[in-house]
Amino acid sequence: MQYSLVIIAYLIAAVLFILSLGGLSKQETARRGNTMGIVGMLLALLAAVCSDGVSLYGWLVLAMIPAVIIGAILAARVQMTQMPQLVALLHSFVGAAAVLVGFASYLDPHAEMTVAETTVHSIEIFLGVGVGAITFTGSIIACLKLHGSMSGNPLILPARHLLNLLILLITLGLGVWFVLSHDPSVGLVPLIIAAILTALFGVHMVMAIGGADMPVVVSMLNSYSGWAAAAAGFMLGNDLLIITGALVGSSGAILSLIMCRGMNRSFISVILGGFGTDGGGSGSGSSDEPQGDVTSIEADVAADLMRNAKTVVIVPGYGMAVAQAQHALAEVVKKLRDAGVEVRFAIHPVAGRLPGHMNVLLAEANVPYDIVLEMDEINGELPETDLALVIGANDIVNPSAETDPHSPIAGMPVLQVWNSRDVIMMKRGMASGYAGVGNPLFFHENTSMLFGDAKDNIDRINAALGN
Ligand code: TAP
Repeated sequence: MQYSLVIIAYLIAAVLFILSLGGLSKQETARRGNTMGIVGMLLALLAAVCSDGVSLYGWLVLAMIPAVIIGAILAARVQMTQMPQLVALLHSFVGAAAVLVGFASYLDPHAEMTVAETTVHSIEIFLGVGVGAITFTGSIIACLKLHGSMSGNPLILPARHLLNLLILLITLGLGVWFVLSHDPSVGLVPLIIAAILTALFGVHMVMAIGGADMPVVVSMLNSYSGWAAAAAGFMLGNDLLIITGALVGSSGAILSLIMCRGMNRSFISVILGGFGTDGGGSGSGSSDEPQGDVTSIEADVAADLMRNAKTVVIVPGYGMAVAQAQHALAEVVKKLRDAGVEVRFAIHPVAGRLPGHMNVLLAEANVPYDIVLEMDEINGELPETDLALVIGANDIVNPSAETDPHSPIAGMPVLQVWNSRDVIMMKRGMASGYAGVGNPLFFHENTSMLFGDAKDNIDRINAALGN
């Protein structure tokens, strides 16, 4: 294919990626955004495969066919609750690709370059390999932690900041050695050592992060994978890879900041790690766990409370995703609205286990978008709400975030459901949520606990509400 045609295809693909990101930012346009992304990616792949630089089609087919099959099977099989670890795994592939491209482009210099060009190219290679190695190992550790194959608690080594600083300084020194050595047989040594050191840094950095900070790590690694791809784009002289990498890198960074704000954590404190050292993510409680009497109710009483309320706010959380209760819940909502009850959903920015988790589930169950509100929109209205129905949510409605300055989630903005007249909490038992923090809301006077699997209880409420 002619070079100019390839460039035009790349430009169209880049525009489609930007429109895709724009579309994905709203529920109403998310499907269209997704389609644009898919078309853009297909176009980019076609243009890359048909460009003059590609000739070994046999090898390409050998790599692509199994990849397409594995990707399709994984995507079809993955549960919504397993998405974060799948995303982390995919980021590790981008990191590995950047490392491999870096080594390949160093070992196979195909064009004559001036000294200045060689220096710039060497810097690109060194950065690509370094960022790629951090992304590769960091993402694998994140995937193992999120999958539960490794403890979710942070591993805090003594003098860990000093260790990180040492790795950084040595890597910088290796970078200078690499860029100044123009003989590939010499330069390979600092490049290999730097790849190993940055890979170890990736392991150490993510091992030190745990508890409720893990989602930020995934979006941060998402951002790193974008920068690694952009570095690979520079090494290969591929404009589209540079643009796409920059889009992923910056959108991942923005998402990380939004999530940090949602949890009232500073980005730097997340990266430095250590959250949850006192039991974060393990579900274990401390000695000053909230205690008291709980009021337990049955599904038919909950149905009565819902039927007799004028306004109901539903707060879905991770447990609703586990129970897959969204479809049955949508039926309950329809019945209540038909009976004249005003029903709205309140979505916390970090509800569930991935950004937009609850929105995806509600959209899947065809819940109308206009009754799904964000935390800031609904918090002010909770004092005028008759009933707050909390389904499988815990950390995001924990009042100790506001009242206990020593709580690990102190300062995290939460949905203030306790301000409504009545609260029903649906969960299986008294366990804490992801952050491993006890929740005093269970013992509030106006809280009733409806114990059991969320889907089973919603089915019972549905039956009690009749047709
Ligand atoms: P959590 O605080 O994790 O609470 C979920 C609750 O659901 C648990 O306490 C559990 O209690 C209950 N549950 C589990 N399975 C259930 C079932 N089948 N039926 C009924 N209840 C069930 O969830 P949340 O309130 O959504 O908060 C999210 C937490 O995850 C935050 O700490 C957040 O920082 C973190 N996080 C968020 C993300 C993103 S980006 N959203 C990613 C990773 C982590 P029982 O065991 O007693 O039933």
